Amino acid sequence: MNTDSLQKISDLSKQIVGSDEPFKMIFSKIRSNDVPYNQIIVKPVRLKDNKKLSCVFRSSTKDETKNIDTEMFETMSATWLQTYFFNLDILTQDKTIQCLQSKKGKLSIIKKNVANKLAVDLSHDHNKKSFVNAEGPYYKDLGLISDGGLVFSKGQKKYNQVNKYIENIHHLLADAGERQTFRVADMGSGKAYLTFALNEYLSAEKGWETHVTGYESRPDLTDTCNNIVQKHHIKGLHFVTANISQAPSEPVDMVVALHACDIATDMAIAYGIQNHAEYIVLAPCCQKQIRKSMSGDHVLSPVIKHGILEERLAEMLTDGLRALFLQAKGYQTKVFEFISLEHTQKNVMITAKKGKVDPKAMTQFEEIKKTFGIEYHYLEKLFEK
Ligand SMILES: C[S@@+](CC[C@H](N)C(=O)[O-])C[C@H]1O[C@@H](n2cnc3c(N)ncnc32)[C@H](O)[C@@H]1O
Repeated sequence: MNTDSLQKISDLSKQIVGSDEPFKMIFSKIRSNDVPYNQIIVKPVRLKDNKKLSCVFRSSTKDETKNIDTEMFETMSATWLQTYFFNLDILTQDKTIQCLQSKKGKLSIIKKNVANKLAVDLSHDHNKKSFVNAEGPYYKDLGLISDGGLVFSKGQKKYNQVNKYIENIHHLLADAGERQTFRVADMGSGKAYLTFALNEYLSAEKGWETHVTGYESRPDLTDTCNNIVQKHHIKGLHFVTANISQAPSEPVDMVVALHACDIATDMAIAYGIQNHAEYIVLAPCCQKQIRKSMSGDHVLSPVIKHGILEERLAEMLTDGLRALFLQAKGYQTKVFEFISLEHTQKNVMITAKKGKVDPKAMTQFEEIKKTFGIEYHYLEKLFEK
């Protein structure tokens, strides 16, 4: 194959591989009987956060699959076209491009507009169950998924966080028993990827009649989300423009807050406790209040003269005190990393399930505050009359 022809095919395939759309490439028509494969079939897949190419090396006896980096594809496909195959078919959602080489090396490129039904492989993590039905049409409107059905690269981290968040809720609800209805408040719902996915999980997977409310202070976001709910006739979900502290008091089964900023997480906790939520699930973000409220000398003062360590200690105390406060109010708590750091730096999750009051928790809460010179934890303020 001459260099001009190779360059033409390489430019074409680079463009396809670099897009967020699904595609399939089929290398075929072997150059000689010594070629070990009959075909090589290439498709995009996501592994963790990275886009890779799944290559199926098909021989008469077996299929062998290898995942390769997209950067390696150019060199590998050039080798395949020069040594193994004459032809390459490229299928996208709306066209088929045939690159056909004659035995003398003449290249013809034939483009046809056809609708190809391509299997969409979103996460490729087939061993793991996906808790987000990314094929739900509203994910396109939310800007998470491309028209072709792939999670946009920029949305992949949020997609993984939401998936893990719901996986943890799934475990938490394992002993929730049969329910007719389930009421959820999502505090600081933002663009609402979690809110939509959780509503779908609870209704489709659990079979419960849902009443899911996303509370969000930005009206542009709640308007967009309510329009998407209406457009797709989604049941059991709505969005309210409100500060979390002003959310109407009403019975709720679960309160969630994914990265609600700073004290907004405390407002979510207070709302859950005051409205007798059975479950409270939080992934806190930017814990600033405690850091500002810490003063005086204590055993860790020489350590936290380094800003980063002061920040880490303040984060730990913020969330540790939240867990103690919840225990004092009759919740069993767990604090853990819900997803690896590569997906988000804010990867701590606090889950709380209604149980018995921990009689020591409030004393421990006060002792820790005293030890680290913490004037107050914002949560306490929310319970002052
Ligand atoms: C970092 S975003 C997270 C959004 C969403 N939960 C997610 O994970 O994609 C935090 C959202 O909380 C909202 N928010 C922060 N404080 C709030 C408050 N006190 N009341 C209502 N919304 C609040 C912000 O406007 C923002 O949309």
